[in-house]
Amino acid sequence: MVAPLGGRGAPHRPVLLRETIEFLAVARGGLFVDGTVGLGGHSEAILEASNETRVIGIDLDTEALLLARQRLARFGSRFRAVQANFRDIARLLADAEEKEASGILVDYFFGSQKKRLRESSLNTAKSVAHAASRSESLKGEKGANP
Ligand SMILES: C[S@@+](CC[C@H](N)C(=O)[O-])C[C@H]1O[C@@H](n2cnc3c(N)ncnc32)[C@H](O)[C@@H]1O
Repeated sequence: MVAPLGGRGAPHRPVLLRETIEFLAVARGGLFVDGTVGLGGHSEAILEASNETRVIGIDLDTEALLLARQRLARFGSRFRAVQANFRDIARLLADAEEKEASGILVDYFFGSQKKRLRESSLNTAKSVAHAASRSESLKGEKGANP
């Protein structure tokens, strides 16, 4: 039987894990949003990198969220799982009473998914890009008027 959550023989390995952790500079701590938490591989690496990191893990899939919650239970309140579409990230952050995120990760692919999901993904990706650029301009405004 394959290991369901990681390690040797596991069916899923997080893609570009080292690069992702470096690029997000998670060692500085803060809140990171994993928009496609899946089985929790990227989130686990973020939480392991520093005791100062927190993660909100979003996924549409109930089963994936269940597995991610189990896998990341040892991090206690540093990990929160939310069933939602990552295109709603701005509202989800507001609901969680979080002002901003130190980094946002979205890990998804087009290859084996259905056309319907592909179309929906393009729309959600546009929304996330818009939310990210809005967040950047808000930061700029804050910097101008401290
Ligand atoms: C490749 S897996 C993520 C694997 C994860 N990074 C890991 O390390 O285990 C992609 C996940 O994205 C989720 N997903 C796809 N589109 C989504 C969306 N618009 N919003 C939230 N989750 C989505 C899928 O349900 C799936 O669990």
